[in-house]
Amino acid sequence: MTPPTGPSRADARAVKISRLRDADAFLERLDILGAQLPLDREVDPGGPLAGTLEVAGTRLANRFAVLPMEGWDGTPDGRPSDLVRRRWGRFAASGAGLVWGGEAYAVQAAGRANPRQLCINPESEADLCELNALLRAGDPQPFTGLQLTHSGRYARPEGPPAPRVAYRHPVLDARVGVDSDAVLMSDMELDDLIGDYVRVARLAERAGFGFVDVKACHGYLGHELLSARTRSGSYGGDLRGRSRFLRRTVEAVRSEAPSLAIGVRLSVFDLCPFEPGEDGIGRPLPDALRDARPFGASEDGLSFDLDEPLALVEMLEGAGVSLLCTTAGSPYSNPHCQRPAFYPPSDGYQPPEDPLVGVARQLDATRIVKQRFPDLCVVGSAYSYLQEWLPHVAQAVVREGGADLVGLGRMVLSYPELPRDVLGGAPLRRALVCRTFSDCTTAPRNGLVSGCYPIDPFYKQSRAAGALADAKARARAAAEPATG
Ligand SMILES: Cc1cc2nc3c(=O)[nH]c(=O)nc-3n(C[C@H](O)[C@H](O)[C@H](O)COP(=O)(O)O)c2cc1C
Ligand code: SF4
Repeated sequence: MTPPTGPSRADARAVKISRLRDADAFLERLDILGAQLPLDREVDPGGPLAGTLEVAGTRLANRFAVLPMEGWDGTPDGRPSDLVRRRWGRFAASGAGLVWGGEAYAVQAAGRANPRQLCINPESEADLCELNALLRAGDPQPFTGLQLTHSGRYARPEGPPAPRVAYRHPVLDARVGVDSDAVLMSDMELDDLIGDYVRVARLAERAGFGFVDVKACHGYLGHELLSARTRSGSYGGDLRGRSRFLRRTVEAVRSEAPSLAIGVRLSVFDLCPFEPGEDGIGRPLPDALRDARPFGASEDGLSFDLDEPLALVEMLEGAGVSLLCTTAGSPYSNPHCQRPAFYPPSDGYQPPEDPLVGVARQLDATRIVKQRFPDLCVVGSAYSYLQEWLPHVAQAVVREGGADLVGLGRMVLSYPELPRDVLGGAPLRRALVCRTFSDCTTAPRNGLVSGCYPIDPFYKQSRAAGALADAKARARAAAEPATG
């Protein structure tokens, strides 16, 4: 199945959302782009977003979810720091009915994406109890899940890349320094890794989380396996083989931690890798597709084809998954697809399309999944770029059945109480609206903790803010052509 519209036009570069003064201007812009988004002109505080929903025996208070967001700010031994506690406390203050994952929690120290990612450690159970209690102190009390991960190709447990890959990739290997088969994860290692997922799931169960997310997105191991067509053995080849790791993990968690519901955060489609062109604008590398067609990508790698993802979701639902969070692509190989932004992170590229097209692509794929699987609780992503129009689109999506919940990522870093304001009928606080400056991504790319440096006074006034400004200046200078 391919998308019904071909949204982007080559001449359609980004227009700032704040320039789109009213709903007519917003709709006109979509029309120019050939993109489709549902939009309600008025937001009703008691309307669709305030609706409750029964999920896995729990009644969710409303249709907002907080998406997982790590901060590169745990302790070196994988435990929460005060920065982690502050972030989770703000997630709870959002008023959202569900907190999906909190942040990526590595099931093995070697699978951490950075040396400050949370990961299993001797005090994990106490840590998870504390973090879950922070979330559950929210009013309304959210349904909570923990995101379980192994970073695979993007593992950097000590800082430098220490990739473990599902298969050799013609483009991505060079980006993380893979030049031999020695870093291929063996089938036996994957068998053992399932046990690590189960171990942390049991701790999450004891800590009172309602579900765990067996992460399968953003280029990390669980996601990379889904495109491991060239891999031999049990965990590659056809879709059954490529999804075996995910399905076995779900089944094992189900049997060993039976009181937990199970979610999967899935990059429901991916695109081919991009790189900055000479003009700084992202350009696709479709040649990479010869042996490595991204999961859920069309043949040219520029759009989605949901045939395989829909078949996978059917298998997952059959295996007992009751929550699905749709996302797309990877923040490493095609960040404009994963988190549409006006300003790219320092290691990215200028958006090759109006970011509204990226938002529309993710919402469209989510709608198709939701309509095919009406019994699954489906949480969408990539709404933050909508800025002032977020509540208007969110309400229309839920009203039309395009998703059950609206997941918020970056917007919660800048404006954690947006759900509470929308549901309380308060006007949006425009000064807090995320403008997709990408500093929360640029900072960790430069070894600093993540946070909303432009808007959240806590980070704006921090010592790291100066270091971030220096890093951005260096990146700008490096991008400028030499003169004189
Ligand atoms: C700073 C930062 C940290 C993130 N950490 C995670 C994570 O730990 N796990 C995950 O699945 N996604 C993570 N994401 C992706 C977000 O959950 C979300 O998919 C993305 O930001 C798009 O949603 P948005 O448009 O609302 O921001 C992160 C994003 C950002 C900006
Ligand atoms: S740094 Fe703040 S404004 Fe920029 S993308 Fe992140 S949350 Fe949004």
